[in-house]
Amino acid sequence: MTKHNLVHGRLLALAALTMACALSAPANAATGEENFAKICGACHSIGGGKLVGPDLAGVTTRRTEDWLLKFIKSPKAMIDAGDATAVALFKEFNLVMPDATQYNDAEIKDIVAYLATKSGVAAAATPPPPPKEASPAEIARGQNLFQGLERLKNGGPACNSCHHVKNDAVIGGGVLAKELTTVFSTMGTPGINAILGKPPFPVMAAAYAEHPLTDDESAALVGFLQDADKKHELQQPRDYGFRLVWSGAAALVPLMGLYSLIWRKRKVRPVNDKVFDRQVKGGDDVAQ
Ligand code: HEC
Ligand code: HEC
Repeated sequence: MTKHNLVHGRLLALAALTMACALSAPANAATGEENFAKICGACHSIGGGKLVGPDLAGVTTRRTEDWLLKFIKSPKAMIDAGDATAVALFKEFNLVMPDATQYNDAEIKDIVAYLATKSGVAAAATPPPPPKEASPAEIARGQNLFQGLERLKNGGPACNSCHHVKNDAVIGGGVLAKELTTVFSTMGTPGINAILGKPPFPVMAAAYAEHPLTDDESAALVGFLQDADKKHELQQPRDYGFRLVWSGAAALVPLMGLYSLIWRKRKVRPVNDKVFDRQVKGGDDVAQ
């Protein structure tokens, strides 16, 4: 009997403990590590140097947990709210990190817990080596791959079904995703390679999940994007406006609709007034 009670008591204590644990839901660094690798690792290293975004070694010591949770959830919201650190990071990287829409608050907490386990890692002292220049043959191949003139080995869609690049030799291109003419300047070889290897953007990830790019295809595409960027710099004064139109295309379309509405109202009136004036005047003329 006493023995039974003892076992019972232990079980109750165990249950209470489990419940307490579940309630306080300690962040799970292991889950965080997995989720970090899935999305964040395309743009960030921890101690391996700057990729598309900053090296995150020691980030939990230079920022508060609260800041990290809010920032990772929506960098754009932080920038819009005028958070000084977020604005400074945006100015430095010239790119807004996408909102972590794939993860809920608990999952973001897990990721921050994982980052904290790496707080002792030193950021890479030396920046990654300068990119090797692609050969003209690689650049030409990259251009063909980009446009779909050469099929990707694993059957993925051509880049220009979603992206546009401003280059005299490339005709047209999709506007679903960002224009990539100057992406090389912002991301460099390691950044673009990381994105091609594991796209952190849901639409692009879905397109290549079953059809990964091969290493030599990625290298050729990076070479092409580097070349397009370089050529574009030379042409900058001439097509600056054009580039702006493309890069703002997504925002521009609804804006243009709005403008045309405003225009119509503004224009119709004066035109009618003019006609009206003329007719009235004409009438006057006839009458006189
Ligand atoms: C497409 C690339 C990209 C992806 C994906 C990405 N980031 Fe970022 N991240 C950036 C850039 C660029 C910055 C610099 C700040 C800015 O401009 O938004 C940044 C900044 C940060 C910072 C602030 C660093 C500092 O020094 O304060 C943290 C923390 C961070 N990212 C964590 C994450 C986490 C966690 C994920 C995954 C959920 C992630 N990032 C996914 C590009 C990315
Ligand atoms: C199914 C559509 C789709 C295809 C195909 C596609 N992408 Fe993307 N890509 C996207 C989306 C969406 C983004 C997220 C940024 C945005 O909203 O434009 C993106 C982002 C990028 C970025 C980061 C741009 C930035 O400034 O943040 C690079 C680099 C890139 N893609 C390269 C490529 C290359 C090279 C190919 C061909 C191998 C390719 N993409 C094919 C949809 C696509």
